[in-house]
Amino acid sequence: MAGYDLAVRGGQVATGFGTTRCDIGVKDGRIVAIAERITDAARAIEADGLLVLPGGVDSHCHIEEPQPGGGANEETFATASAAAFAGGTTSVVCFIPQWKGHGVWERYVDYRARAARGMLDHSFHQIISDPTDAVMEQEVPRVVAEGVRSLKVFLTYEPLHLDDAQYLRVLTKARELGCLVTVHCENYAAINWRTAELLKHGMAAPKYHAWARPPVVEREATHRAIALAELVDQPIQVFHVSCAEAAEEIARAQARGVKVWGETCPQYVTLTAADIDRPGFEGAKFMCSPAPRTREEHARIWEMIRRGTLDVISSDHCAFSYEGDRGKRQNGADAVFRDIPNGIPGFAARLPIIFSEGVSKGRISLDDFVRLTSTNPARLMGLAPRKGMIAVGADADLALWDPAKKVTLTNALMQHAVDYTPYEGMEVTGWPVATIRRGEVVMRDGKVQAEPGTGRFLPRGPYDLIRPRGITPDGFDPAPPPAVR
Ligand code: URP
Ligand code: ZN
Ligand code: ZN
Repeated sequence: MAGYDLAVRGGQVATGFGTTRCDIGVKDGRIVAIAERITDAARAIEADGLLVLPGGVDSHCHIEEPQPGGGANEETFATASAAAFAGGTTSVVCFIPQWKGHGVWERYVDYRARAARGMLDHSFHQIISDPTDAVMEQEVPRVVAEGVRSLKVFLTYEPLHLDDAQYLRVLTKARELGCLVTVHCENYAAINWRTAELLKHGMAAPKYHAWARPPVVEREATHRAIALAELVDQPIQVFHVSCAEAAEEIARAQARGVKVWGETCPQYVTLTAADIDRPGFEGAKFMCSPAPRTREEHARIWEMIRRGTLDVISSDHCAFSYEGDRGKRQNGADAVFRDIPNGIPGFAARLPIIFSEGVSKGRISLDDFVRLTSTNPARLMGLAPRKGMIAVGADADLALWDPAKKVTLTNALMQHAVDYTPYEGMEVTGWPVATIRRGEVVMRDGKVQAEPGTGRFLPRGPYDLIRPRGITPDGFDPAPPPAVR
């Protein structure tokens, strides 16, 4: 009987800490050997000329979020899994919604069942939009005990946004429970004020979405999110940083030892405000929040990535079709930017775009790429070393990558459920030719071949590495204010 179920042979294995030509032996879905030569395997995949990367970990994506009135967004866990595998991603952390006036436990149970129908290994952030006594004292601890170790808050969006008092309450509970808090940072009142002014003057087209939320609203909310987290001494991750002003707030806080991490997304190094201004109503296809900025801003974001201020690159995949009842086009020319659903699809495009714009164009190293798109999100989310690493004992999640392959992105290649990609026509160099999830080839040459229902829930433990200073497992232990530390 063969010693290994699978051997991946002869590839350049990129660990994020160097690249070596070697073989990987897989047994029962895990990596059990990394050696110069492995021959004793039931099946071998020859990877000569290819890079062997840890499967991508996408720690910010919206999948099949159920809506209060029934239904869910278009991307199901099955379609999302196909899109993710098509792009070399094998694990995701997505969002359990909370609707105002509702609890979270029922949603958790429902969302676990939905996710179990997909093929991706998955974990969740619990959105908190209504932090009542019952939710925070009874239901959230129950969900966290299941292994949901991150809470997500929005500082803008109707009806999700929290005010400062509510945000502080979430931070305090997260500290007590050993969770990370992830934050959407934009100033709610400022956006509402700008939106009302723009609409009063008849400025309703998609391009005014960007006018309503300039960098200063992101910078202000990022500063406040960090300041309150510092006060509580609670680790946070700032999501989808789009501009240097916001990234500089993070850099300053990191320099004084605050436990804050920053994430950005491919759209903030590729799309611009000019895309939201495309003729007709096409601009709606590029509407996400924060809004895409400028080419100059892209260069600053790359610099913040190189410095390590932004150390995770997620997709923020949040897919709405252009056409259709609930699509972005809505009633065409008469639509008002305020009412167009925010968010763009990006699962399959994430790794190819960052590899092409980053590694192929010499902006970041291959090691950086692996860490930004796989190892760092896995570590921050408490999924490592099982995910995000090529190491003995880790799940055998791999992307076999052709670094020289040139591809023109099209919607069909993305394999998601919606009718467009904002990256249509973009040329990339570097492409996944196979994706392996727990030792099973789930995508080969663009053909996804995994069975629905094979994705696994990934429960996460308390945040040992970033545990708040001085907290005791059983007691309330308020952090001293920064001034007396
Ligand atoms: O426009 C975006 N980003 N939509 C998704 C929801 C969010 O803010 O992350
Ligand atoms: Zn957001
Ligand atoms: Zn998001």
